[in-house]
Amino acid sequence: MFRSHTCGELRNSHINKKVTLSGWVQKTRDKGFMIWVDLRDRYGITQLIFDEERSSKALMEQAKTLGREFVVQITGTVIERTSKNPNLPTGDIEILVSELIVLNKALTPPFTIEDDTDGGEELRMKYRYLDIRRNPVKNNLIFRHKVTQLVRNYLSSEGFIEVETPYLIKSTPEGARDFVVPSRMNEGQFYALPQSPQTFKQLLMIAGLDKYFQIVKCFRDEDLRADRQPEFTQIDCEMAFVEQEDILNAFEGLTRHLLKEVKSVEVDEFPRMTFDEAMQRYGNDKPDIRFGMEFGELNEVAQHKEFNVFNKAELVVGIAVPEGNSYSRKDIDKLTDWVKRPQVGALGMVYVRCNEDGTYKSSVDKFYDQNDLAKWAEATNAKVGDLICVLSGETNKVRTQLSALRMELANRLGLRNPNEFAPLWIVDFPLLEWDEETERYHAMHHPFTSPKPGQLELLKTNPEDVKANAYDLVLNGNEIGGGSIRIHDKKTQALMFDYLGFTPEEAKAQFGFLMNAFEYGAPPHGGLAFGLDRLVAILGGQETIRDFIAFPKNNSGRDVMIDAPSPIDDAQLEELGLKLNLKS
Ligand code: AMO
Repeated sequence: MFRSHTCGELRNSHINKKVTLSGWVQKTRDKGFMIWVDLRDRYGITQLIFDEERSSKALMEQAKTLGREFVVQITGTVIERTSKNPNLPTGDIEILVSELIVLNKALTPPFTIEDDTDGGEELRMKYRYLDIRRNPVKNNLIFRHKVTQLVRNYLSSEGFIEVETPYLIKSTPEGARDFVVPSRMNEGQFYALPQSPQTFKQLLMIAGLDKYFQIVKCFRDEDLRADRQPEFTQIDCEMAFVEQEDILNAFEGLTRHLLKEVKSVEVDEFPRMTFDEAMQRYGNDKPDIRFGMEFGELNEVAQHKEFNVFNKAELVVGIAVPEGNSYSRKDIDKLTDWVKRPQVGALGMVYVRCNEDGTYKSSVDKFYDQNDLAKWAEATNAKVGDLICVLSGETNKVRTQLSALRMELANRLGLRNPNEFAPLWIVDFPLLEWDEETERYHAMHHPFTSPKPGQLELLKTNPEDVKANAYDLVLNGNEIGGGSIRIHDKKTQALMFDYLGFTPEEAKAQFGFLMNAFEYGAPPHGGLAFGLDRLVAILGGQETIRDFIAFPKNNSGRDVMIDAPSPIDDAQLEELGLKLNLKS
């Protein structure tokens, strides 16, 4: 028997009991005549004591050889501590050790296994198994487990059936590049790893399963960010015989359940906002509504004066920064530099100080009088003591820029309270979006999304105006889920592919299986997928999903621990029929 108890378990009530524990040496304190060792496992830390008076000389000698992260097993008696540690659940007791077995030695770890470690990100990723020994990472994984279990139980109790779908498939377009896998048995041919199980879950609805879910890995070859990994996990769901309203209710229920169970937060009905409104009020389709700083459009009150920058802009728009008038000129210059960084891309920033005496002082006083500026303050909802920041330019660009500024300022001002949860549905997404690179329309969600009833005809004349039965769930400024009501008839699906620039042959080759299935009694259906990593991170009060993934990739898509991706040998290439192709 390796242990009778865990390292987080023993209390006063165990005093005088003989126990056996196993774990890792967190630290040792050697006073010569007395040695203390903190023994750690997943459950906590228990203090061990060896002392000259009560322990044998051999045991003392043995204890002196222990190093950090040695794996040991001890047997001893639980005794009351002379100096108790109120910060430790086991802090009332210690173990007077009578037997010590070193199960395995350890090299000195490359960083300290403490809550606050001295290890840099890359180093911790390389030794992720050591990083996971640290409480913050370990607790994130335990938290993830808890959320995942709650999701499974909830959906299962609501009648959803968990079905596994294949990983070796062909391309499912979700807007990213595919990871592909060469087929040895079908030389020159490739599988694609699923960007999502989208087509399969639709087929399961045609198959009559009615309510499906799957906690499933998805693979997307795209640029990585704090909230993006090349492989990530979805809570993927689909339902038959539903309208948008049914889906929103079902998954609002799940989200509310999670908030209550893991955060003890009760949220009323989730607010809903159309895509257009979100863009206008926040410049963003995933607005953080925990704080204000809503956009005030200023075209009417700022144009047709002498200021040409504004006159020729498509949109002039501002936000009021709470108590921003306290910023020094230098602070404001820095803010201007911030919006002019290439990552944000604004050409400049106009500001208005809302003085305590009710007057205004702006960077464009030459062109605007107090009356004009009062109108700006009204439009941006600025109060005395605020600072109004104004950007101008092409509508979409300027909205994105001001949204970036709004989020940056909110972060700096501490307005994004991680313990407050503000979910929001964004509905009525456009069906299509223009892709500058390929100069083509793309499905904004994916090509299986149905247009709003009666809007199909608009596709020919005003494609950009067509709205989709598509929705996103936003939590604290992060898109944690998205879905749509699907097209379920072959004709409409064929039309969609046509508008998206597929020839009938291409559509057939890529999605013939789905269009055929539509001809065998496809029920109306729709669904949604949550990003589990994001959901867990945000519920955990953070935004970096890496910290909630056991073995994440770095920003270049590498696993620095196992060193992947890596070259494969010639024989393997040849076997896959890739070697010749590469040369030719
Ligand atoms: P979508 O592409 O919106 O929809 O993805 C659903 C959710 O998955 C999360 N997500 C990611 N998380 C981490 N890393 C990534 N690279 C990443 N990409 C997406 C987001 C997102 O909201 N098949 C559709 C769903 C449907 O229509 O039912 C789909 O995949 O939180």
